[in-house]
Amino acid sequence: ENTAPSFAPPHSALTFHIHATSGRARYTTLHLPHGPVSTPVFMPVGTKGTLKGLTPMEIVEERGDGEASAGGPLNNEIILANTYHLALQPGTELIREQGGLHRFMNWDRNILTDSGGFQMVSLLKLAEITEEGVTFDNPFQELESSGNEELSDNDLDDTKDAVSVSCGKRDSSCISDTGDSSKSSSTKSQRMLLRPEDSIYHQNNIGSDIIMALDDVVSSVSDDKTRFEVATYRTLRWLDRCFSAHRRKHDQNLFPIVQGGLDVLRGGLRDVCLAGFRLRDFNAPGYAIGGLAGGESKDDFWKVVHHCCCALPDNKPRYLMGVGYPLDLVVCTALGVDMYDCVYPTRTARFGVALVGGEAPGTLRLKSHSCAADYRVIMEGCECMACCDGNGKGGYTRARLYSMLKNDNPLAVSLVTHHNLAYMMSLNRGMREAIKKNSYGEFARKFVRDQFRGKE
Ligand code: GUN
Ligand code: ZN
Repeated sequence: ENTAPSFAPPHSALTFHIHATSGRARYTTLHLPHGPVSTPVFMPVGTKGTLKGLTPMEIVEERGDGEASAGGPLNNEIILANTYHLALQPGTELIREQGGLHRFMNWDRNILTDSGGFQMVSLLKLAEITEEGVTFDNPFQELESSGNEELSDNDLDDTKDAVSVSCGKRDSSCISDTGDSSKSSSTKSQRMLLRPEDSIYHQNNIGSDIIMALDDVVSSVSDDKTRFEVATYRTLRWLDRCFSAHRRKHDQNLFPIVQGGLDVLRGGLRDVCLAGFRLRDFNAPGYAIGGLAGGESKDDFWKVVHHCCCALPDNKPRYLMGVGYPLDLVVCTALGVDMYDCVYPTRTARFGVALVGGEAPGTLRLKSHSCAADYRVIMEGCECMACCDGNGKGGYTRARLYSMLKNDNPLAVSLVTHHNLAYMMSLNRGMREAIKKNSYGEFARKFVRDQFRGKE
């Protein structure tokens, strides 16, 4: 086992301890203001400060051996929330007055907030991007005129919820289009200007342990080379504005985000961005890799991740944004990534889809007819609330979940969400153990082999 020293940049709210490496994969602990985080780690997404269908009690238990217990809580050490959605509703000044998001959502472990940059892509038709910042439009108006096809994703659903709550009713007639909205929690208009300064202001109010710089995100499958170039340089300029606006360096960690499309040529746009970070000398506590997981080929995806991991410093955590398929976690950990987040495990649970490992890893569609009379639990040996009741008795059968889902029983969605997060936690644990034993390569090859067995 490799016991490298801890790295604590001055004026930072983070120390980083690398316990072991296996190839480029690392097993580390981040010490953050709300406790330790073992990596590789998957951070579940609670867009508006909740993991839909779960209570904080289900997510944590007393810190002990760090392992989740049968049928019990998941023991997550960090979750993710979204600045844009929280600024819309309930407003970040209100959150600050309540003592910050930790108190507001009754969660005393770590929180990472994304800056709102990604909503430029996920809500693209509603966003206008200029040097000043991003202006988000009222999602209802757009919904009506667009016929609501590809806009019905999670981001938009969450945004609609936020707008309807802040208006008090689900009716577009309540939406006004006046005034400067970014700093007002009580009289929000439905146009929001999010400048780098606003994003940091909101994240300082929220009080999350890791905050993200506002980046100019371009869909990875765009073929507009000029747009990528503009976005890369703008991301660096916005980074300067973010660091200047940051008021809580002693207890909040600001991570820059590498942009630059799929260009990994020497001196290409990813290099421009990485070199820009080195020039700046902010002593950032960690770095993120952005602009991926948007439909590019796996080959391009892995090349960019590898390129960025090699260029980023070894003594700081690396966070790959928006990545959450189990296979991607396994591969990118081998490339040197430490942190991940994605809506996938929780969103897919809401469609009744469970993640499963073992002999035939992949997904299990619990609404499929084949589950109607299947009396096995989702995954034998899983210790989640759905698969196990903690007393050695079986949990919920697939047949039971099938009929609950057919009846829109919300308990079923909670159970599948719990299962999927337990699956991700146990995958992370397996990766860490393999790195500790310096056998990560073997672990990853077996995972990939199992995943593709019988699918050639
Ligand atoms: N989430 C997924 N990808 C990204 C990205 O490139 N930037 C930000 N801010 N969030 C993301
Ligand atoms: Zn389970």
